[in-house]
Amino acid sequence: MNIKILNGSPRKENTAAMCEAFAEGAKEAGHDVEILHVGRMKIAGCLACEYCHGKGEGKCIQQDDMTEVIAAYKDADMVVYASPIYYFDVSAQLSAAMQRVYCIGKPPKAKKAALLLSSGSPGTTNGAIATYKDMIGYLGMEDAGICCLAGEENKKESKLAEIREMAKKL
Ligand SMILES: Cc1cc2nc3c(=O)[nH]c(=O)nc-3n(C[C@H](O)[C@H](O)[C@H](O)COP(=O)(O)O)c2cc1C
Repeated sequence: MNIKILNGSPRKENTAAMCEAFAEGAKEAGHDVEILHVGRMKIAGCLACEYCHGKGEGKCIQQDDMTEVIAAYKDADMVVYASPIYYFDVSAQLSAAMQRVYCIGKPPKAKKAALLLSSGSPGTTNGAIATYKDMIGYLGMEDAGICCLAGEENKKESKLAEIREMAKKL
């Protein structure tokens, strides 16, 4: 499979470690993996101008870093959403990248998805998980696994090994 990981963290720390572990496992299983660091990209929110559904014919009127993410959505057999928890939700950067899929409707090939969340405290991921489940259901993708690491669990080798195993089984 062609797997695209959208890393919504601006830092190269906890979420990045989860993404790397997932990529390692998936590559070992023979998949092609690309990590897109959307947390460091310039991606504005959707303007709801409907240019994409009219004159734009699927193209967004905003020419920012989302162009690269749209190309990845089009290519993907699987999308992995990864994010730090910011106030009980995914980061604003990942949220924008999730919502700006609007211009193409649905990723044309993606049938699977996964979610990687890093938080400071346990019990803060319900909102992000609910959004993810609704979103992938809407986009016609099947959940292939959710992993949440909180506090001390972050960067723990045994936890990263679990993510590698999860990705190996895809
Ligand atoms: C703006 C902001 C909001 C945060 N909100 C929460 C939160 O609601 N719940 C929580 O457990 N941790 C929260 N955190 C902590 C991060 O989720 C946590 O440190 C995470 O491991 C960071 O991942 P990263 O290293 O990939 O950036 C917040 C951090 C920031 C910067």
